[in-house]
Amino acid sequence: MIDAVGRPQSVLVLGGSSEIAQATVAKLVPARCRTVVLAGREGPRLSEAVDRAKALGADVAEAVAFDATDVAGHGAFADRVFDRFGDFDLVIVAAGLLGDQAAEEKDPVSAAAVLTTNFAGLAAAMLAVAGHLRRQGHGRLVVLSSVAGERARKANFVYGSSKAGLDAFSQGLGDSLVGTGVRVMIVRPGFVVGRMTEGMSPAPFPTTPEAVADAVVHGIETGASVVYVPPVLRWVFAVMRHLPRAVWRRMPG
Ligand SMILES: NC(=O)c1ccc[n+]([C@@H]2O[C@H](COP(=O)([O-])OP(=O)(O)OC[C@H]3O[C@@H](n4cnc5c(N)ncnc54)[C@H](OP(=O)(O)O)[C@@H]3O)[C@@H](O)[C@H]2O)c1
Repeated sequence: MIDAVGRPQSVLVLGGSSEIAQATVAKLVPARCRTVVLAGREGPRLSEAVDRAKALGADVAEAVAFDATDVAGHGAFADRVFDRFGDFDLVIVAAGLLGDQAAEEKDPVSAAAVLTTNFAGLAAAMLAVAGHLRRQGHGRLVVLSSVAGERARKANFVYGSSKAGLDAFSQGLGDSLVGTGVRVMIVRPGFVVGRMTEGMSPAPFPTTPEAVADAVVHGIETGASVVYVPPVLRWVFAVMRHLPRAVWRRMPG
């Protein structure tokens, strides 16, 4: 159970090798999170993430196979994980694909892969997981959305629209869970300097996986429902959202 100061004792991560998720696990385990289950695509990144969680001192640190695009498998995946490990205090939805917009505009199949991974696949997985959280009567679902979903830009509207869909879905799911003991927290980072953005010029107000992790932990402790990282982006996007389209479409890539 999440303790009196808001610290979860067990976490399931969908997208267990994510840098932001790993930075978050590195803050949760020393604060008495005992069980870390990292769900993701098999490979060295996932097994290294498990090794790091073990080295931090988690009692249980394991990888389980999860592919966000395997929509038909999400029900059985959630059943297996909750049967095997019991209740989870926290589920972090961290899988995500930035994609390559220029390539996607010429190849609808790769555009659909981004939309399926970031939105349809994760939405289906969240419903499967939420069913278990609802039955256990407690828990927090933390969803890594993005400010890119606040308003799609012409330079990355495939990714941006996938995040807009995920974000809207998460808001609705959170509202549907009110009164069940389960809460949804949406995290909207700006540009995070790390693997996903390697080689890109930072956008204004860049941040780091560690800063996002701090914001996630703080948000859990304070019961936040929406968190911007850095916080100034809440006000930046409150303005950006209302810029005239003729101005918005000139926003640089
Ligand atoms: N980095 C940023 O600037 C930024 C900004 C705002 C929001 N976000 C969001 O934050 C989340 C975490 O990003 P990050 O910065 O930690 O990037 P990351 O290190 O690249 O993590 C992305 C994760 O998604 C996983 N993934 C991709 N496709 C998958 C699939 N089909 N099934 C299962 N897992 C899949 C990757 O697994 P593999 O190891 O198997 O590839 C990896 O674990 C993402 O949702 C991202 O969109 C990131």
